[in-house]
Amino acid sequence: MVEFIYLDHAATTPAYTGVVKAMQKALQEVFGNPSSPHSFGLEAERLVNRSRTAVAESIGAEPGEIYFTSGGTEADNLAIRGTLQAKRRQGSHVIASAVEHDAVLETLRHLQELGVCEYTLIVPDEEGLISPKAVAAAVREDTVLVTVMLINNEVGTIQPVEEVVNRVKAENPEIYCHSDAAQALGKMSFRVNDLGVDLLTLSGHKLGGPKGVGSLFCRKGVRLISQNTGGGQENGLRSGTENVPAIAGFGEAVTTAVGDMRLNLENWRRCQSHLMELVKTIPDTAVHGTPLTMAPHIVNMGFPGIRGEILVHALAEKGIFVSTGAACSSRKQITSHVLDAMGVVPLLAEGSIRISFGAETTVEEIDILAGLLKQTVGELRSFQRN
Ligand SMILES: Cc1ncc(COP(=O)(O)O)c(C=O)c1O
Repeated sequence: MVEFIYLDHAATTPAYTGVVKAMQKALQEVFGNPSSPHSFGLEAERLVNRSRTAVAESIGAEPGEIYFTSGGTEADNLAIRGTLQAKRRQGSHVIASAVEHDAVLETLRHLQELGVCEYTLIVPDEEGLISPKAVAAAVREDTVLVTVMLINNEVGTIQPVEEVVNRVKAENPEIYCHSDAAQALGKMSFRVNDLGVDLLTLSGHKLGGPKGVGSLFCRKGVRLISQNTGGGQENGLRSGTENVPAIAGFGEAVTTAVGDMRLNLENWRRCQSHLMELVKTIPDTAVHGTPLTMAPHIVNMGFPGIRGEILVHALAEKGIFVSTGAACSSRKQITSHVLDAMGVVPLLAEGSIRISFGAETTVEEIDILAGLLKQTVGELRSFQRN
């Protein structure tokens, strides 16, 4: 008997059993330093490179284009900071969507404050979609980087990255195009060559791997300045002894998540449409975004008049775990910059929660969630009326 239902998989999702095994093996058996020239080192290097190949194959890249990092945040930082330093003679203007993760937005804010860059944010439409035309129109002489995420982590919008890249490159093929795909691998099929991106971020713990590992795809010929200097690991782009157990787990997770994707997608689409149908019976409910451009594993909905964090806590007391939005900002209790950018009125934005599915989510769990959601929203609303 399961005593809780976890529906916050976009924040993080449990590691697959195979991932745990791969990590344990790397910790206990393949414990060498990948840079050591003896057999222990070579074995560890082989393990790292096996994961590199798995990650590369999952996005249609070459293994030599994958650089392991400490996660999605570091990969985003490396893409942005590395580009600005490499291209400082050409310019320092960056274009980003206004719905990017804080790993991108805070980095840009910080760099602008330091006088290292200037950035333009592109606001989405009310469905959360970024217009490729608007991105292209924002290109300036000194633009060096465009960054638009593939799947938004709060509302699940799938962004038209391929069209964004095509339009930007038509303006100036020298501009680097980056996409944060931390929420996308294992949730949709995509190839870096179809997207046309130069740089792409992945994160291990969003797809059944460990936390604290991720990677940056950096297309061959694209020049970045390293942000970690030292022993020259990762082909000089990211010094520091590789986190071999985490990298081994990441590779295993990628293989499993991509291998299971077709079945997972069918299940998630079923869960998603079932949930959206059931919540129609809760008065004044708004689902943010449209199924047409929504990732299969995320549903974000608002209940005006209720505070999202109170609803999240009330559901947690009943054994249902969801979130108010991005895991990193939900503790800060600020309203979502994503919903704000989509033009969602504050009363509705404040009453919004994110429900996200994982490999084990079932339609039966969605039934239970919907029942408790209806009950809890009713309770909170009547409590407020009295
Ligand atoms: C879209 C997106 N980018 C970046 C990150 C950061 O990844 P990590 O937790 O691996 O640093 C996350 C995780 O919340 C995310 O959802």
